[in-house]
Amino acid sequence: MSQAYAQIQKATDYIRTQSNITPKLMLVLGSGLGDYGDRLQKMDVIPYQNIPGFPRTTVPGHKGNLLLGELFGVPVVIMQGRFHYYEGHRQQDIAFPVRVLRNLGAQMVLFTNAAGAINMDFKPGDLMMITDHINYSGMSPLFGENVDEMGPRFIDMTQAYDKPLQQILLACAREQGISLKQGVYMMFPGPQFETPAEIRFARTIGADAAGMSTVPEIIAARHCGLRICAISCMTNMAAGILDQPLSHEEVMETGRMVSDRFARLVDTFIQHVREV
Ligand code: HPA
Repeated sequence: MSQAYAQIQKATDYIRTQSNITPKLMLVLGSGLGDYGDRLQKMDVIPYQNIPGFPRTTVPGHKGNLLLGELFGVPVVIMQGRFHYYEGHRQQDIAFPVRVLRNLGAQMVLFTNAAGAINMDFKPGDLMMITDHINYSGMSPLFGENVDEMGPRFIDMTQAYDKPLQQILLACAREQGISLKQGVYMMFPGPQFETPAEIRFARTIGADAAGMSTVPEIIAARHCGLRICAISCMTNMAAGILDQPLSHEEVMETGRMVSDRFARLVDTFIQHVREV
């Protein structure tokens, strides 16, 4: 057993001492969306700081708990708060919780995040299903020695976003009368927001939204065979589009404003993936 996998196993074993739930679905909640976790039934709460090998979260608006419970009869694990590259975490460490939860039994994952809208047809408050991404962080969570127990050295990214799950999510949005955009998420390392020139560059190369997270977790999730679905909340227009500065407060405020609509979409998604 590799040393990296031994650590994953150790964290998995600890979680098993705190909860007897084997999650099918993993949810990762981004800025301003952390409250969704309060909906879990029969909830076990495990602070990240108690889990061996878990990184620490440092961002306001991001809680640091693993929640295990049930939603609509589906065993779910929620990461309430996530780890960002700009906090100084190595991307290999950002991958760690994803790998642990896969090891615990999760089969699919729904990521959410906050992003700036690059596509001019989008507006603040819109939800966007991520159909592809551009990794502009200059790094990969798979960098370094491969963790063979989790997946192979070289992985396909043409099918990273699970087509059947995307169809389900689109159907859920239609059913709920929620407008769901689709597009390409571009990860910038942050923590500074982008410059107007960087956003023009991003638009030119095909990005619809800019954010500072999720791509490392997506790559790690793809590596270990999790089925992936992801939603971005457009909390603001990206830099330079409007004649106003960007702020974390605006991101949090819009996140709060959409949280009901977002929760309805996720509720419906969970009900539909019960059968998958
Ligand atoms: N850029 C990067 N990340 C973000 C933004 C943005 O405009 N809004 C929310 N997260």
